[in-house]
Amino acid sequence: MKRIHILMIGLALALPTLASAQGVNRGTAGSPHDFSTNSWNLRRGVCSACHQAHHTDEAQIAPLWAHRTSTAAFVPYSSPTMNASVGMPSGASLACLSCHDGTLAINQGISGPLGGGSTLSGTIDPSAQIGPDLHTTHPISFVYDAALAAADGGLEDPTTYKIGDPKTRLTISTPPVPASWSGTSLTGKTINEALLINQRMECSSCHDVHKMDGSAPSSGILLKISGTDSSGRGSLLCRTCHVK
Ligand code: HEC
Ligand code: HEC
Ligand code: HEC
Ligand code: HEC
Repeated sequence: MKRIHILMIGLALALPTLASAQGVNRGTAGSPHDFSTNSWNLRRGVCSACHQAHHTDEAQIAPLWAHRTSTAAFVPYSSPTMNASVGMPSGASLACLSCHDGTLAINQGISGPLGGGSTLSGTIDPSAQIGPDLHTTHPISFVYDAALAAADGGLEDPTTYKIGDPKTRLTISTPPVPASWSGTSLTGKTINEALLINQRMECSSCHDVHKMDGSAPSSGILLKISGTDSSGRGSLLCRTCHVK
């Protein structure tokens, strides 16, 4: 028993050092979305603040969705130069906003507090609040397909442009992937495969909620593509879809 304890303390000391040396934490556990150690989460679930196996959200805005859905009065993005028509947030974006718009508790499940406790937790920290006014945030919840790219003229075709390809029509066409790219899980996939959900642009086009793919493991804000390219230039995420 004593030897196991010593081993466990050894591991506990060694793991954070290893992780911080690489600056990488892959996966939900240990990420900003790991609520397993919050006092309200008596079951210590890593996934259960968001998903359950049974009795989940009728609307299934995200797979096996266990969280209560926000009914806030959203103001969507609009601009005279937009080609896409953007409506109210839906699908996976609405799922994110159900915590991030600050109107519901983090553990507010579809039928009472999640996590085996009886009390609701607090709402999101103001530093991580997005919305309900979304007119100052990148447009979300709309179809981004080849037709939109053609109509806009300043977007890559999401069905043919692959992550890591040189840019079309630009003089500096360095492929906009991080110079020290370890997230090979997205390289060679089209924008549609790597970043869109059902051809739609959502919060998850830029962020990986589970901190798995692309740059997300090493990005504090879970960005799928972040860092600088081999010429030292940034804004890689924006330069992936936009031809600007
Ligand atoms: C903070 C909320 C949150 C947590 C915690 C979370 N997920 Fe998710 N999950 C989502 C959202 C939102 C989606 C849909 C959008 C997307 O895929 O980005 C999703 C999608 C999924 C999908 C389907 C799409 C895919 O990527 O395959 C699976 C499977 C999944 N989650 C499993 C898990 C498991 C297992 C855990 C625990 C280790 C977990 N999730 C933890 C929010 C969460
Ligand atoms: C169950 C509630 C919940 C859901 C659902 C959820 N989040 Fe979060 N998210 C949080 C909390 C809580 C934090 C930690 C905020 C803090 O205190 O900094 C966080 C942190 C983040 C951060 C890091 C911000 C920072 O300042 O550290 C990002 C980015 C993020 N979430 C994006 C998303 C996206 C995108 C989705 C949907 C795919 C999503 N979240 C779904 C609760 C949630
Ligand atoms: C076009 C890509 C993109 C989309 C779409 C997007 N984000 Fe972000 N997000 C970013 C970037 C880049 C940052 C870093 C800070 C910045 O540039 O404002 C960020 C920062 C954040 C943060 C950290 C706190 C902050 O305000 O800086 C949170 C939380 C977050 N996003 C959640 C969301 C949620 C929820 C959605 C959907 C409603 C979403 N994001 C949609 C790219 C995106
Ligand atoms: C996954 C693809 C994708 C990523 C990543 C992305 N965008 Fe976009 N963005 C789009 C699409 C599609 C539109 C809609 C364009 C339209 O319909 O006119 C858009 C719209 C915009 C608009 C509004 C255009 C208008 O006419 O009002 C701006 C500005 C913008 N993006 C800037 C950015 C910036 C800055 C980043 C990086 C933080 C970024 N985008 C990342 C796909 C993306």
